[in-house]
Amino acid sequence: MSDQFTSPINTVEEIPGLRALVQAQRQQQASIGFVPTMGALHAGHASLIEQARQDCDFVVVSIFVNPTQFGPNEDFEKYPRLREQDLSICQAAGADLVWMPTKEIMYAPDFSTVVEVKALSQILEGATRTTHFQGVTTVVTKLLLSCLPDVAFFGAKDYQQQAIIRRMCLDLNIPVEIKTCPIIRDRDGLALSSRNVYLSEAERASALSLSQALKLAKEKIDAGETDLNQLKADMQQLLSTTPLVKLDYATIVDTHTLEEISAPQPEMVALIAAYVGETRLIDNCLLPPV
Ligand code: PAJ
Repeated sequence: MSDQFTSPINTVEEIPGLRALVQAQRQQQASIGFVPTMGALHAGHASLIEQARQDCDFVVVSIFVNPTQFGPNEDFEKYPRLREQDLSICQAAGADLVWMPTKEIMYAPDFSTVVEVKALSQILEGATRTTHFQGVTTVVTKLLLSCLPDVAFFGAKDYQQQAIIRRMCLDLNIPVEIKTCPIIRDRDGLALSSRNVYLSEAERASALSLSQALKLAKEKIDAGETDLNQLKADMQQLLSTTPLVKLDYATIVDTHTLEEISAPQPEMVALIAAYVGETRLIDNCLLPPV
């Protein structure tokens, strides 16, 4: 259980052990905050843990590199696994317990149930990564049902993911409040991501075009632009003329349905996905009402 020699933070692997520890807190009237992650933690993850620390009495972080949300040619095998570093980050950010289930605990050999949020999972990221969100919603359901928190914290960095998880909790009456926390960026604007370690120096420089395109869209709206198709074209132009960048989409959508819009409305978000070299990156930005 807890690995006292390398890090004093309490860890647990099995679901019954997790449930017992959470239950004991609940009996003392503690509110439970939960931050699901795949590890390779950075300041973005830490910000979620810090928010949970502020909002809740007992903070659980899960670390599980979920195989079912990776496509066959994606980076499951090479995804960074940094146990000791991750535990230190959890502790410094104020977590009380880190749950690290094994693949066998999460997926029995005869596992045969999936959770799918229909329309929202098929567009944008789902158009290219066709099984990704089914993997995410299935594992998040299992994580939430195992931990049974009051509040679960997600990052706005994965905008579509948090929208899908909100829809899922509503549709399935999962009694957990979903809180979405702001995107944490490097000083130069690059959104922090566990996948940024894959970038070469030249690719990292090109990757800045994602946040620059979003900044451009925001500035143009602030300056009075109302033609959203022009804004999309401006973002696409910036990205497609950046070396090493292969644009997938740069679009503006409704914040809830994620359907593409061409006329301004009070709640809209600009979403970008692009390959920089071999690495797929996403970024987004809520746009001010026009
Ligand atoms: P992972 O990519 O490890 O991200 C865990 C959480 O950290 C997600 O809610 C994500 O949006 C948030 N996050 C990542 N980068 C961030 C940043 N720069 N600023 C703020 N928050 C950030 O997302 C997953 O894992 C998985 O799909 C998971 C939900 C754990 C299911 O397996």
